[in-house]
Amino acid sequence: MVELQNVSVTYAGGVDALNNVSLKINDGDFAFVVGSSGAGKSTMIKLLLKEIDATSGVVTVNGYNLSKLKKRKIPEFRRTLGFVFQDFRLIPSMTVYENIAFVLRVLDAPLKYIRKRVPYVISLVGLHAKTNSYPDELSGGEKQRVAIARALVNDPQLIIADEPTGNIDPELSYEIVELLKGINDQGTTILMVTHEHDLVRHFGGRIINITGGEIVYDEVLTGTNAELLPEVELAQAMENAEVQQSDEYSMPAGDGSDYGNPYVDDVIAAITNTSNDNGGVE
Ligand SMILES: Nc1ncnc2c1ncn2[C@@H]1O[C@H](COP(=O)(O)OP(=O)(O)OP(=O)(O)O)[C@@H](O)[C@H]1O
Ligand SMILES: [Mg+2]
Repeated sequence: MVELQNVSVTYAGGVDALNNVSLKINDGDFAFVVGSSGAGKSTMIKLLLKEIDATSGVVTVNGYNLSKLKKRKIPEFRRTLGFVFQDFRLIPSMTVYENIAFVLRVLDAPLKYIRKRVPYVISLVGLHAKTNSYPDELSGGEKQRVAIARALVNDPQLIIADEPTGNIDPELSYEIVELLKGINDQGTTILMVTHEHDLVRHFGGRIINITGGEIVYDEVLTGTNAELLPEVELAQAMENAEVQQSDEYSMPAGDGSDYGNPYVDDVIAAITNTSNDNGGVE
């Protein structure tokens, strides 16, 4: 659940990025957030991840009042979320399996659970055959599917995606949204920022338009796509994933801190970040 009550954000320097925004997204909803460049979309996402704080108003995400959340509670809060970034943020030196398993290792999940859960989410996104591939051996759409599997692996209540189709071919964008819709059908709340109006028209659903830091439109639209979403396919994929043998994979030893890669810091920050420099908000 996401709720913004009279939220404003003024950046240092005086830019009013959000102006008295109120909004509620219930558990199980799927919402698109649209709006022109500089409208305040990423600012809203950063608020929801508690990368920045509101200048005024109340932000509540998954039952946490972010305005009151203590710094030491931020990691616990972030574990209730999954994030998908426009630029994927996969770790190039790790395989698909390792990129996803890494999240659970950072959270100290038992190895037995990791060996079951990771192949399961890889199958959900249809990448079983790429389990041992490295990111530079994947297409843009495949990379984003890995990123979605990574966002899913911790079984979050809410997945937040900021322009997840921004760096992939338009025709693959539809697949990515279908995948997110399928995940939503299983109960995960999804909030997706996009510039692609064709996608929004095609899928329909709840559309929130932010312009000049204000919500100017928040309606449920019927999409132009009359076909049902691939629920049957997804249910089948889940079933297949359950029975998959997991013992064929193994993780390298270590806690992930020794990969010496800047992306590692991004991923750790995204999942467990305790730093909160407040992103220049006044
Ligand atoms: N750290 C910052 N310091 C000062 N101003 C900022 C900062 N980040 C964003 N802004 C300003 O706040 C406004 C909203 O920016 P935001 O990034 O939320 O836009 P957006 O809707 O995500 O745009 P885009 O579609 O281009 O990603 C813009 O005027 C931007 O210049
Ligand atoms: Mg943005």
